[in-house]
Amino acid sequence: MYIEKVKQKLKQLQDKPDIYVLGIESSCDETSISIVKNGREVLSNVISSQIDIHKRFGGVVPEVASRNHVEAITNVLKEALEIADVTLQQIDAIAVTYGAGLIGALMVGVSFAKTLAYSLNIPLVRVNHIKGHIAANYIAHPSLQPPFIGLIVSGGHTAIVRVDDYLNQTHIGSTLDDAIGEAYDKVARVLGLEYPGGPKVDALAKQGSNNINFVAHDVLKKTYDVSYSGLKTAVINYVHKLRQNGQELNVNDICCSFQTQAVDGLVEKAIKACKSHNLHKVCVAGGVAANSYLREKIETLGKKEHIEVFVPPIKLCTDNAAMIACLGYYNLINNEGISDIDLSACPNLKI
Ligand code: KG4
Ligand code: ZN
Repeated sequence: MYIEKVKQKLKQLQDKPDIYVLGIESSCDETSISIVKNGREVLSNVISSQIDIHKRFGGVVPEVASRNHVEAITNVLKEALEIADVTLQQIDAIAVTYGAGLIGALMVGVSFAKTLAYSLNIPLVRVNHIKGHIAANYIAHPSLQPPFIGLIVSGGHTAIVRVDDYLNQTHIGSTLDDAIGEAYDKVARVLGLEYPGGPKVDALAKQGSNNINFVAHDVLKKTYDVSYSGLKTAVINYVHKLRQNGQELNVNDICCSFQTQAVDGLVEKAIKACKSHNLHKVCVAGGVAANSYLREKIETLGKKEHIEVFVPPIKLCTDNAAMIACLGYYNLINNEGISDIDLSACPNLKI
């Protein structure tokens, strides 16, 4: 019944001049709902962050995150509709992050999306969170089109991909262990900095120097893969050793050295991938795309190698529903990811 009505709606959408997609994101600690017109025009993008709640635990507590999504989501919807000045009846499709992420957190968004789609008899479009991060660049740069190289740097993923078109990506390289954002957060934690540590390390690194050699050389230099567990452990061991010996830590230098060694090789590999795939555009995506050093480094290297660099504004780097609505739109018009109401959350979804 529902799916028959969705088929009719999909036919009607072919002739509709303006398409309104409502996006829902709840994969980690941000409850977000956004309304996007024709894929790229953001009418609203409401983000309710739980950072202050998780701060005292030093990281995201999955069960606490799920409960807070449940509490926040209805008000976030109300606000998103009000700001966009549209009613639920004007929405043409619901796009939702169904993975990767925390299972309980994802389930809140997916259940909410299913309820809305079913009650409104409109398509439910599933969106891969990691691919969604790339779509933040489509919003920020209206004329940007694939193909290009994507550098995904978040709390859960680190990868270099070739974005072939709006739907397909080819894997080029990725982390063999920890994600870059995870390494930032762990280093911050050992230094006693508040969660999320990435922005704090970024700020302190500005006053320090890259004068501590944590990793002697990159054994993966000839590949497009990276590894962060060795670097992270080297920083943690260094800090523990100095503390045990009663020596003072130069936190700024530790942050700067870690950051330089975490970012330089990865950025060089992304630019190298552009050249070897004969593509002249690179788009950075994910929470760590907010990092000032990474942004500066890739801009400089891109300029030198004649590669155009795209980064989203800070608000679109970290988790938000506008990027989900944007990719949901491209899925919708290409008949991709249209789901029935038995859609489940996939915590380990791959790119
Ligand atoms: O993409 P995101 O919001 O969530 C995931 O999908 O993982 O990324 C969150 C990550 C956290 O690890 C956070 O510390 C990091 O992005 N991050 C940063 C900065 N801002 C956020 N890392 C380094 N420098 C920043 N300025
Ligand atoms: Zn994310």
